[in-house]
Amino acid sequence: MSGTIPSMETSGQQLKDNTIIIVLGASGDLAKKKTYPALFGLYKNGFLPRDVHIVGYARTKMDDVEYHKRTTGYIKVNEGDEETKAKVEEFKKNSTYVSGGYEDGPSFDNLNKHLEQIESKYQSKERNRVFYLALPPSVFIPVAKNLREHCYAGKGGANRIIVEKPFGKDTDSCRELLKSLKEHWTEDETYRIDHYLGKEMVKNLLVLRFANIAFSSGWDKNSISNVQITFKEPFGTEGRGGYFDEFGIIRDILQNHLLQVLSVLTMERPVSFSAEDVRDEKVKVLRAIPPIERSDTLLGQYVAANGKPGYLDDDTVPHNSVCPTYAATTLWIHNPRWEGVPFILKAGKAVNEAKVEIRIQYKDVTQGIFKDISRNELVIRIQPSEAVYLKFNAKTPGLYTRAIPSEMDLTYKRRFADIHIPEAYESLILDALKGDHSNFVRDDELDVAWKIFTPILHWIDGLSGPRPKPVGYPYGSRGPKELDAFIQKYGYKRTTEGYAWPVTNVSNL
Ligand code: BG6
Repeated sequence: MSGTIPSMETSGQQLKDNTIIIVLGASGDLAKKKTYPALFGLYKNGFLPRDVHIVGYARTKMDDVEYHKRTTGYIKVNEGDEETKAKVEEFKKNSTYVSGGYEDGPSFDNLNKHLEQIESKYQSKERNRVFYLALPPSVFIPVAKNLREHCYAGKGGANRIIVEKPFGKDTDSCRELLKSLKEHWTEDETYRIDHYLGKEMVKNLLVLRFANIAFSSGWDKNSISNVQITFKEPFGTEGRGGYFDEFGIIRDILQNHLLQVLSVLTMERPVSFSAEDVRDEKVKVLRAIPPIERSDTLLGQYVAANGKPGYLDDDTVPHNSVCPTYAATTLWIHNPRWEGVPFILKAGKAVNEAKVEIRIQYKDVTQGIFKDISRNELVIRIQPSEAVYLKFNAKTPGLYTRAIPSEMDLTYKRRFADIHIPEAYESLILDALKGDHSNFVRDDELDVAWKIFTPILHWIDGLSGPRPKPVGYPYGSRGPKELDAFIQKYGYKRTTEGYAWPVTNVSNL
């Protein structure tokens, strides 16, 4: 038995032919680093519609040569890989560029003309247009409006718009943004990306949880003591200081990426894998989370260390900024499954390593027969090197009677030697082409996510009193030194003395 998952019910049609993907903001960083490499990955492996054409659009004036140089610069081609090289050339031939403003109608008429020219070669009347907005939030609305008014393909085809965060800065601004977008595009046509939902291990959560009785039966407050969802990046805001300072780590990572992970991790089993059934369950669990308390929050900002600059040394950052680059905050879910279990979300820039993981720590075994025994932990490593491992206790081998922590380990690159894990953006663009919304964020999900974070954000922004000052932590460290005590406060126990990965030497114990 292969254990297939019934295919997702999609609300839209799958786009197979006569499709143009239009990348707005084609000269920007996101397009260059993520969108185009993902489009190429799909193209190379034959996942894009047969006759697909990609049109880049941005304000920058450049010819096709310059455009191709920029958009293929981040595509990795190994020395001697002639096949990929040839594919890149083919990809370029199917990709053209139009420059124009974001706010004026005539620029979009011009773009439309370009699209019609491409479409004039189609054999049938069907015309599909997928608009990908890799744009700063200041131009979301005028672009969405102009696209709807000047570039909307008529009947007999599909129009889809893919948008990226930030979706506002708090509950009110998010509602305003959603309202303005809805004046031009229906919910069904809109695909809001949170690229964490496209990551392999996040998608894996549904299967891990609901296809394994061994996990699902202990997935609650009776067995679990605490959960940590951690994001660590070893570099600072270099070059993005201006953007970052306006948003901070909570808006950049916790309110969207980590909360999305949390909702899939904790939701009840959906009735089916259809997009709306899955998203209904995510919204339900998020609604059971009250706004975060200040006392459940630890804020940090990195300072210069090890020859690396501090956050305030970045020229694009105000010299007295109190913007947090590190945040740990604990959420509580008031429902019968999770009452009393702390969910600690942590995210930090300029720390000691790159790692995103979920760490579920189980409760202590009942006292009596074991002394100082390690707790079970189930770790789902989202990146790098995808893995799921369960720390558990076994008898120390040989003539010993004590227990020793060990692990059941599924490390993807060892277990699935020949697979290539696609980039999150590849998976999401493909979903948008299929008309599958399950891994995109619905409007009510966003609303409830902002409700959880808005009070704490307003406190940090100084809208409800003096602004809190984050504690300093050295660039390249584990984060604020207050972190260990913060986590312990919620019951986390570090109990792996004598435990070494990958080989434990029993005679040293
Ligand atoms: C983005 C944030 O959404 O996610 C960045 O704006 C962050 O600050 C990035 O670096 C992390 O994404 P990934 O896929 O590298 O984990």
